[in-house]
Amino acid sequence: MQARGSRRALALSVGLALSVGALAPAAYAVSSGPRVATPTVSVKSFTVNFSAMTKLKALAKKGKGNVVALLPDTQSSARYVQYDEPYLTAAFKAAGLSSKFQVQNAQGSASTMQTQAEAAITNGASVLLIDPLDSGSGAAIEKNAKAKGVASIDYDRITLNGASSYYVSFNNVTVGKNIGTGFEQCVTAWGIAKPQVLVMDGDPTDNNAKLFNQGYTSVLDPKFKSAAYTKVAEPAGTWDNQKALVTFQQQYTAHPTINSAVTPNDGVANSVISALKTLQIKPKTFPTTGQDASVQGLQNILTGYQCMTVYKPVYKEAQAAAALAIYMRAGQKPPSSLVNGKTSNSTKSVPSVLLIPTNVDTKNMASTVVKDKAVTVAELCTGAVAAACTAAGIS
Ligand code: BGC
Repeated sequence: MQARGSRRALALSVGLALSVGALAPAAYAVSSGPRVATPTVSVKSFTVNFSAMTKLKALAKKGKGNVVALLPDTQSSARYVQYDEPYLTAAFKAAGLSSKFQVQNAQGSASTMQTQAEAAITNGASVLLIDPLDSGSGAAIEKNAKAKGVASIDYDRITLNGASSYYVSFNNVTVGKNIGTGFEQCVTAWGIAKPQVLVMDGDPTDNNAKLFNQGYTSVLDPKFKSAAYTKVAEPAGTWDNQKALVTFQQQYTAHPTINSAVTPNDGVANSVISALKTLQIKPKTFPTTGQDASVQGLQNILTGYQCMTVYKPVYKEAQAAAALAIYMRAGQKPPSSLVNGKTSNSTKSVPSVLLIPTNVDTKNMASTVVKDKAVTVAELCTGAVAAACTAAGIS
């Protein structure tokens, strides 16, 4: 809470400080509308201080209606509370949209998201940002919104067969490849002579989970084929951390030779790690992987239970989504410097902003997540983790 508050305060104070300089003529292109300057923000312009958003203030003033972001849950990953909610809030505020946006969380219920979307439309939303729990419910929300003249942007997860105008995410196959290479490097670094690998996947209702799988499978399949590694099992995937724990326990009981696991995010990894600790398995002997740079994931890396996490700088994703929404509610086409790709939603190609993730382990934790203030040293380096922080140059 403390960290979220201070991140937000930092973003806002810097945003306000920079807003005076934001009217530099070079940043503006003349739009086709009547004497309205259209600011240009690019996908490369999003920084930890949210300064790019201040360029969108005039456009935000001009736009109509509310922007409502619908996030899926608070349990499958710490990211929604730790990053998405505060960063979306900071992005909209930095653009001056103070009372015209809301960030809501469906707490794992698709029908709650449906109700939230309907209420948002009734209360004057012009743009919805949707991170769906599954594509079926997401598509129903988007089609209903469209019928009422409300635009949708897919946020982080694409809605298959949906009606969104844009999609904002990371390159999710790259996220998966990063997990695969992180796993391989760790197997070597920790000296696992004969990896007996349990492959754990994310929830099949999330298209991202398929893309992550595509990524790590492309890296690890050659190892399985050459018999350098053995794939012991690949049970049905889930983002539910409790179910993932049960899955791991069942698999480990059935196959006690398992000595490593490809785990698709920090939450699932932590479930496995809690079981490893109960089994008194020692640090740096059982590789696991992750993504999201959650505090817990980073601590598990520092203490030798997780090899790495894929750091997805959500401050960029949140700003890209907020910027798209601000262009759309002002009736302006987002610039090509922002929209850098296309993604198929199965029925159509959706113009996309796709961002690049990076791997984080003990070697670069200080120069990435800590430097970006994604986490504070105080929240990361608690108790038994303090010594590992010092060893990793985090202070
Ligand atoms: C997100 C991940 C997250 C997972 C579970 C995916 O769609 O991209 O960041 O860990 O869902 O919430």
